[in-house]
Amino acid sequence: MNDKKFYITTPIYYPSDKLHIGHSYCTVATDVIARYKRMQGYDVMFLTGADEHGQKIEKKAAEKGVTPQQYVDEIVAGIQDLWKLMNISNDRFIRTTDSYHQESVKKIFKKLYDQGDIYKSTYTGKYCTPCESFWTESQLVDGKCPDCGRPVEDAQEEAYFFRLSKYADRLVEYYEQHPDFMEPKTRFNEMVNNFIKPGLEDLCVSRTSFTWGIPVEFDPKHIVYVWVDALSNYISALGYENDTYHDFEKFWPADVHIVGKEIMRFHAIIWPAMLMALDLPLPKKVYGHGWLLLEGGKMSKSKGNVVDPVLLCDRYGVDALRYFLMRDVPFGSDGVFSNEALISRINSDLANDLGNLLSRSVSMVEKYFGGKLPAEREADPMDDELVSMISSLKGKYEELMDSFSFHNALAEVFKLISRTNKYIDETAPWVLGKDESKKPRLASVLYNLLESLRVSSILLTPFIPDTCAKIQQQIGASADIVTYESAASYGLLPTEAEVHKGDSLFPRIDMKKELEELEAAQKAAQGSTLPKYEGVAELISIDDFTKADLRVAQVTSCEPIKKAKKLLKLHLDDGFDGGRQVVSGIAPWYKPEDLLGKKVIVVANLKPAKLCGEESYGMILAANCDENTVKVLFVDDSVPNGAKIR
Ligand code: ME8
Repeated sequence: MNDKKFYITTPIYYPSDKLHIGHSYCTVATDVIARYKRMQGYDVMFLTGADEHGQKIEKKAAEKGVTPQQYVDEIVAGIQDLWKLMNISNDRFIRTTDSYHQESVKKIFKKLYDQGDIYKSTYTGKYCTPCESFWTESQLVDGKCPDCGRPVEDAQEEAYFFRLSKYADRLVEYYEQHPDFMEPKTRFNEMVNNFIKPGLEDLCVSRTSFTWGIPVEFDPKHIVYVWVDALSNYISALGYENDTYHDFEKFWPADVHIVGKEIMRFHAIIWPAMLMALDLPLPKKVYGHGWLLLEGGKMSKSKGNVVDPVLLCDRYGVDALRYFLMRDVPFGSDGVFSNEALISRINSDLANDLGNLLSRSVSMVEKYFGGKLPAEREADPMDDELVSMISSLKGKYEELMDSFSFHNALAEVFKLISRTNKYIDETAPWVLGKDESKKPRLASVLYNLLESLRVSSILLTPFIPDTCAKIQQQIGASADIVTYESAASYGLLPTEAEVHKGDSLFPRIDMKKELEELEAAQKAAQGSTLPKYEGVAELISIDDFTKADLRVAQVTSCEPIKKAKKLLKLHLDDGFDGGRQVVSGIAPWYKPEDLLGKKVIVVANLKPAKLCGEESYGMILAANCDENTVKVLFVDDSVPNGAKIR
């Protein structure tokens, strides 16, 4: 039996919207750790899933005219497809709508109630509906939700409470005794200063204002608070208080919960307190990673600035995206995503350094030795540095991987790859190849290239698994010499190994052309996903907008039109010779003298029209203030007539 076990989780995702690249970031990182641990021989349980209950989902389903279950079913199917696409190797996928999970949550709630850790009282406080979070007055920032900055609502109702305050001292004691419980260290300070020090209050853990959730079994008009429901997934998925799974004894406590920094408090305070109340061991670590930002802030569907991972995978391949996400941003910090950074990484690291090394090495083995290196080889002291880099890489890599310093672990591997490319220049195999007597030396040089690729491909496997399999196939490395252990030894590639030249791993991308095309594709895709502001017309592009030629013009004359009570005939100085005549339906709100001399905005390229026998060349802009009032938009006198508005 394998006693090396490792239980790792991602947060379970809200199926409120399509997932964006920020969610992929979290899941890819967790996948990298899971694959790394498997490679080390651990029996890994990697759990991810969907967090499907709550008021927000209920509202969205109602807006769409479907049941909440129908609503989540469709989105969760999309989440599962995305994880398949991104090569996520989760062992289990939990849905909080799964009946076994609901059964566990009901039992957990009842147990805590029976033992007095949950009690009934009245809730008065602040609630942020989008975040489904309760806040105390002292936690609000400028009176708003500290997580999303949106307004919170006063809420008062009969509710159940969890005695969180009772666990405050035990939590602090636990943190002190387990300094590695929260990582990175900055998260520990955030938790203690922002939440523990101001004092922990009991937590409201039930709601009665909606029904889409798990009912409290003994008082079903109450729905279990979504976070109690969601956090319990980490144990229900192992079979705690249900009969669907039976891995609780084996895998609990979790080795690490990977979470975004904004949900650290739920995982580092509320969840441990719940576990203490249940008399269960605490997870060994909660790691709060940073955010992937776009210039201008956090990605969010409501801001309309999300990056779609599917589009990027389609264009560059899954491994390119996985590599970029793990290489560009230090895991515990925030980082800014940009298309340019992505393409530049693909070109420099993957196409230039790694891809070229493979294709040059394999081509030369084919060209000079017909695909198979001879046994007779001649080493040279100039190989020593490369050989020692190859055999010492695993140790450095492991240290960095164990501290989740993925970008540095990758940087170490790529140092070897760059060094190997430099070694090609130094040894100039094309010169050696011209001289028959230098063949043993040439064989040795090429062997070193293949060994460097073999070791790199092992250590890169958790990040870019498909690519590494291709490298190993091309260099002719069989399964027994690409195990994790074999990354520590130089010289394992046997003489009979045969190379097989294959397709280029990462074709070089023309940055300028690709940026234009990618941005256009992203815009087109986002057009259909921007938030819908109720009543707002269909989205247009900036190009559509600039088709309207808006100008500042001054009213030089204005008179009523006898046959039409609602119309006024205006003459405008629009900066062009002779100006223009415009007919406008603003007579109910303006007398001619109100407008004379005023500067207005005219749509200068509107097709001319005839209104009650009068020609109109454009229209002036006005705002509907309410059903009965219209106001013309006047412009400051300092703006010259004819000025173009953009
Ligand atoms: O929080 N950069 O779900 P969620 C990095 N259901 N990470 C990001 C990100 C970004 N731009 N945007 C989102 C929830 N994430 C709860 C979890 S667990 C018991 C319940 C990360 O779908 C975010 O930080 O809103 C979080 O860790 C994860 O995606 C899920 O977010």
